[in-house]
Amino acid sequence: MSAEAAPTPPAKARGPGDSSGKTRAPLLETRGLTKIFAQRGGRPPVQAVTDVSFSIERGETLALVGESGCGKSTLGRVILRLIEPTAGQVRFEGQDFSALAGPALRAARKRLQIVFQDPMASLNPRMRVLDIVAEPIVVHDLAKTREERRTRVTALLERVGIGADALTRYPHEFSGGQRQRIGLARALASDPALIVADEPVSALDVSVQAQIVNLMADLQAQQGLSYLFISHDLRVVRYLAHRVAVMYLGRIVELGPVQEIFSRPQHPYTMALLSAVPTRDPAKQRLRILLEGDPPSPIAPPSGCSFHPRCPVYAEKRDQRCRTERPLLIRRSPAPGTLGKPGSGSPAADAPSLAACHFAGQTPSLRAPSPD
Ligand SMILES: Nc1ncnc2c1ncn2[C@@H]1O[C@H](COP(=O)(O)OP(=O)(O)O)[C@@H](O)[C@H]1O
Ligand SMILES: [Mg+2]
Repeated sequence: MSAEAAPTPPAKARGPGDSSGKTRAPLLETRGLTKIFAQRGGRPPVQAVTDVSFSIERGETLALVGESGCGKSTLGRVILRLIEPTAGQVRFEGQDFSALAGPALRAARKRLQIVFQDPMASLNPRMRVLDIVAEPIVVHDLAKTREERRTRVTALLERVGIGADALTRYPHEFSGGQRQRIGLARALASDPALIVADEPVSALDVSVQAQIVNLMADLQAQQGLSYLFISHDLRVVRYLAHRVAVMYLGRIVELGPVQEIFSRPQHPYTMALLSAVPTRDPAKQRLRILLEGDPPSPIAPPSGCSFHPRCPVYAEKRDQRCRTERPLLIRRSPAPGTLGKPGSGSPAADAPSLAACHFAGQTPSLRAPSPD
């Protein structure tokens, strides 16, 4: 699968849309979501996720991209309440998910599932596939008899392209791609509305990645599922996502429709990520922007715009605002042709890109930033 070869992949689901024209609350909404990890031994806290607000519509894939350590997994886990947020709120299916407890929380959890990067680590090696996939069915009491449970698991496996002969086998007897299919079957078992997929294809061979991504797109088209698709691979993101959120040091720095992000990135960090995507066509090779050094530590994020020490635009302009004033995630410049257009009823698909940069949209020259 190559982003260049398939700019408009046929497999991508139609995406969010509401032909009725009525506005509905989004499926999921986060408001000011923040996670600070306290550390033992007097070490300073880690600001893993800071003030994240976004929404996901029904049937939509929102991709979350960014370098390793920027807070993607923490954000996914905080949304699911696998870890509790330090601040902020999650609204899901019209409820304040953050405030739910007991049976109400359990019921809402059915509708929010997760798929992990490494299916070998996330599937219990001592359990048969039947019992692995049946787990959510048992936890949420979704089948009355053993026979009914088996029938449901068989149907779930069929949906992800795994035959019934798998029922009595163990995870190690399958390939990485098959194990990820089994992970998806388990996630689907409780009829979720949203699946948080944390780097679900990153550990797989490229050819297998395409199969799993296609399967996810098919499942979305059939069931109207939504995904928060966490990935550092922009080619996969371009293929599957409807919108993209770019994360840097715990904050969203750019958020917009996938075409906008790929064709008119506003934030220099997004430009740098895109310029690192390999392309076989030299004519299409973008300006390569070097990201010097590692991301700074989330223990002590830089002042102002936390990207400024690595930013090629700051390297050129040396504008003190970048050092002193944190840029807000707001609409910076209207995309050509979108001003004054009536909405189609789907707020997310129509939304312009938001960027947290004082110089949004300005393409840096080739010069890499030099140290202060
Ligand atoms: N339980 C934890 N305790 C302390 N720090 C953590 C914990 N989990 C993650 N972190 C830190 O939070 C930051 C974000 O991590 P993570 O969400 O895993 O990033 P990503 O998934 O984008 O690679 C990293 O600096 C990581 O070391
Ligand atoms: Mg991660």
